[in-house]
Order: sequence, then C-alpha cells, then structure tokens
Amino acid sequence: MLQVRNLHKSYQDQHVLRGVEFDIHQGQVKAVLGPSGSGKSTMLRLMALLEPANDGEILLRGQRLGVRQRGTTTVPLPERELAKERRDIGMVFQKFNLFPHLSACRNVMLGLTSVQNIPAKEAEERAMAMLERVGLSHRAGHYPSELSGGQQQRVAIARALVMNPSVLLFDEPTSALDPELVGEVLDVMEGLANDGMTMIVVTHEVRFARRVADQVTLFDSGVIVEQASPDEFFDNPQHQRTRKFLSHVH
Ligand SMILES: Nc1ncnc2c1ncn2[C@@H]1O[C@H](COP(=O)(O)OP(=O)(O)O)[C@@H](O)[C@H]1O
Ligand SMILES: [Mg+2]
Repeated sequence: MLQVRNLHKSYQDQHVLRGVEFDIHQGQVKAVLGPSGSGKSTMLRLMALLEPANDGEILLRGQRLGVRQRGTTTVPLPERELAKERRDIGMVFQKFNLFPHLSACRNVMLGLTSVQNIPAKEAEERAMAMLERVGLSHRAGHYPSELSGGQQQRVAIARALVMNPSVLLFDEPTSALDPELVGEVLDVMEGLANDGMTMIVVTHEVRFARRVADQVTLFDSGVIVEQASPDEFFDNPQHQRTRKFLSHVH
C-alpha cells in the first residue's frame, strides 16, 4: 500500500536520509528502531508531507505523494493540494502537541471542523467515538493540563484517527512519558494494530516491536540496515550493526 523509494534528504551539507527504501502492506505494522540522530524523525516528517524530499518517491496505493507530473517533469504540489494529501497520513508526535486552551474533545474535533469543514455536531460525535476508542470518553471535557501524559498522548492518537487516515505514523510516542504511563499508550496502539490499522512506529520499545510489529527495521545513518520479521530480527539478525544495537537495548 505504501512504498518508499530511494528517499534522500539533506540539511545544508548534512546528508540525513541516504536512499531509504521499503514497502508496507495494508494492515501491517512496521517498527523502526535506531540510534538517535539516524534520521528516523526526518523520514516520518517526509512521509507525513511536512517537508519535501530532495530525491526519491513516496507512493500511496501506487500514487506519488507531494508532487504532480507536468509533462516530463515533476513539480511540488501547491500547499492546498498538499494539505489534502496530508489528511490521509496521520502523525503522532513524542510531545503530543495538543492545544492547551482546548478540551480533549475540541482538540480531536479541530481537524474535522477547520480542515474538512464538517459541521460541529457531526464532528463532536466523531470525536467522541474516537475518544471512546482510546478509552477517554469520560475525559472529553478536560483540558490537556488536567490529563496525564498517557491520557494526552491517547487524545493525540484520537485526533489523528478521527481524520480516518490510510496510515498512522508514530514518532517515539512513549518516549516523553513516565514509565508507568507507557503501557496504556502501547495498549491503545496494539488495539489499533489488531483492528487492521497500517502503522509505522519509531520506538525504543523492543517488547512492543516484537509482539505487535509485522516487520522490524534498524535504521542507522540515514539508511535501513536490516528489515525482517520480529523473530528473525531479534533472534537471528543478519547484520553486525543490528547485533551491536540489540546488545545495547536488551
Ligand atoms: N530541520 C533540520 N535542520 C537541520 N538539521 C536537521 C533538521 N532536522 C533534523 N536534522 C538533523 O538530521 C539528523 C537526523 O535527525 P532526526 O531525523 O531527528 O534523527 P532521529 O529521529 O533518528 O533521532 C540530525 O543530525 C539532525 O540534527
Ligand atoms: Mg527522532
């Protein structure tokens, strides 16, 4: 369903992504592990169309994202068109990024009312259904400051889900949480995976990766080093780099 081909990204003279390639099928969960600074967040930002790539392609159901073909050249999409494509790709950040002056329900509704022009009543119903799905319908009227970090992240997941994306990208969704709050967020994510959501999860949660992911990837210095099923990846890694990485996280 989603294909990434030869993706490159540089900042000034730093070549951060150096030819990233992978496929993910509908309903699959891909866990991405890798050291800090290896380009994992950059890859997700490119996939979420928050920044343009320098080279390479991202295809969703065979359709190239972020660009339009004009004759023999490809040109970046204008912002309006980009915004439309972005709706199909949900993103959950390490730091939640909720609006502090809006209740949980209003945070979840906002994309529907302001981006999709959906009437408030329908948006509220859909937002409430998503809060229910992440186990927070009883906190709908609370502001972010009145919620725990785990609850805030679950609101952020509901906010991404309500747009009905084809794929959900997670950038270290539990890294900013106190240890005792990590489980409730991972449980929600596992539930989504079981419901068939297509997900790419950058994480340090090795146990989650092993239990929930269909493929596990080691990312290092802007390239994919190893990509395999969880059993293969953890029990029989093919690359020395993977063995070294795993020796630090186990
Ligand atoms: N907007 C940016 N401008 C300049 N350098 C950046 C920018 N975003 C990321 N980088 C650099 O790209 C490298 C990879 O960053 P990042 O994708 O955040 O890695 P990871 O998520 O794996 O820790 C880092 O060296 C970082 O400093
Ligand atoms: Mg990162």
